Amino acid sequence: MESFQRGKVIVNICKDKDDLAHRLAERFVSLAQDCVKQSGRFSVALSGGSTPRELYALLAEPRFSNKVPWHLTHLFWGDERCVPHTKDESNYKMARDALIAKVPIRERNVHFTNDQDEDPVRAAEKYEQEIARFFKLNEGEFPSFDLILLGMGPDGHTASLFPGSAALAEKKRIVVANYVEKFQTYRITFTLPAINNAKNVIFMVAGEDKRAVLSTVLESAPPSLPSQFIAPVGRLEWYIDEAAAADLNRQLLSPASSGV
Ligand code: 6PG
Repeated sequence: MESFQRGKVIVNICKDKDDLAHRLAERFVSLAQDCVKQSGRFSVALSGGSTPRELYALLAEPRFSNKVPWHLTHLFWGDERCVPHTKDESNYKMARDALIAKVPIRERNVHFTNDQDEDPVRAAEKYEQEIARFFKLNEGEFPSFDLILLGMGPDGHTASLFPGSAALAEKKRIVVANYVEKFQTYRITFTLPAINNAKNVIFMVAGEDKRAVLSTVLESAPPSLPSQFIAPVGRLEWYIDEAAAADLNRQLLSPASSGV
């Protein structure tokens, strides 16, 4: 894996999807252990989509799972589709099948939305209240997740913040129900201020279909795509594979200093 630095941003280029998943599983374990050492818990918001599935399956394997302090780990989601958790499109179901059902994490440490298939606005409010309760937030405060995992679509969306969607302008809420024109449906999603208040944000981007958008997101200015507005107070890292990195101008990336 080659690591580059672009300002505050760390870009890790992995050989392929499998290498990306393994490197990210190692990073997840080290972050979990460090956070538990520092604060006694590890709060992580999982991403949906297909890229993270391999990561979650690896984390369920004893060689990784045995190193994660699951009893002090709290799982959330950065976004969820408005479907029952029994449906394959559900981000919760994907993570449950690949990871949660296979590791010793207590049910009360898994904080997910529900009712999102009936009433997305109400589901967003309930999820937001759950987050506020967990982080003991006062009115107007944002959670400080130890880690938020994000994917990115070929249109530059992340979580369920799609280009041109109303949630992109949200400055006060933590979670909203966001109407997504292209799918003619609502999605439950973290807002930009909620994501940007995290201690660590990690993008996982792999595959040929992401090469064009990745170059735009990492190299074009001013920012125009949702993923370009992810600028956390903490650390931002990209884990990408060579296929997605194919169009990156490596001249713009300087080798990351050691101890990245
Ligand atoms: C979702 C995700 C979404 C995803 C991207 C990338 O609910 O679909 O939260 O933001 O991360 O669409 O998806 P892939 O990893 O499947 O390319």
